[in-house]
Amino acid sequence: MHSQINELFSHLWQDYLAITPSARKIHSLLNELEFIDTGSQGELINDHIALRTFNIEKINLDKLAAHFLALGYVEKGHYDFAQKKLKAKHFEHPDTTQPKVFISELLVQYMPKPVQDIINKMVEGVNEDTALLKNFLYSGAHWQVTEEEYKTLAEHSEYAAWMSIWGFRANHFTISINHMQQINSVGDMNLKLKQAGFALNDSGGEIKGGPDVLLAQSSTMADKIKVELKDTSLSVPSCFYEFAYRYPMENGELYQGFVAASADKIFESTNTNSIK
Ligand code: NI
Repeated sequence: MHSQINELFSHLWQDYLAITPSARKIHSLLNELEFIDTGSQGELINDHIALRTFNIEKINLDKLAAHFLALGYVEKGHYDFAQKKLKAKHFEHPDTTQPKVFISELLVQYMPKPVQDIINKMVEGVNEDTALLKNFLYSGAHWQVTEEEYKTLAEHSEYAAWMSIWGFRANHFTISINHMQQINSVGDMNLKLKQAGFALNDSGGEIKGGPDVLLAQSSTMADKIKVELKDTSLSVPSCFYEFAYRYPMENGELYQGFVAASADKIFESTNTNSIK
């Protein structure tokens, strides 16, 4: 079971790195920092990864989740993002050293008609059994949109626009600051990243959450990558890196859930307009 989990995360990680050059740089920067101060190669631990989809049955949240349930993951929290028309669930493995998994889906029926039409057209071309394929979770987009379609999606839902380009893959990886030796808070992490020239998502402040909600998070802004659309090529936001620090609950154990208000702002890390 564990080798299957490691294999899946390794595929997701390689796929993510290929379109997120800043993540590779940040990963080696933090690895180096841990190494210099401890003299031994500590391992950066993932708190969670996140995936996105649409609530259309053949590729919905449950279809993505099935891959993790088959590996022993268990469904935990539910989250609603009314304004962005999203819902999400998070999954944990009984082996708490395995990353948590956060999966969201866009509630397509609440989108304006032109957006629904574009999404339905995209998903129509996907085979009924595609979600069962072993590589489904890192298989990318199974469709191609035009520039006009991309812009229509982005106008109403940055999330839908991101899905139209990137499809099924890790939207972000998240480093667990609790497991680091040399960085002990989200504020310290943000300082290191800014000193190294990385742009942070400052929607709702650079630090989302805090001790009061038992989880503090920050994230970089997504890299911009040139991609081929149906009729043109365009630079669009790809993926971002996230950082999480968890606080203990009354029983002394670290809180393992997510905070909807924080996640709501983290989604904006892939917004087209806020790229600096
Ligand atoms: Ni996250």
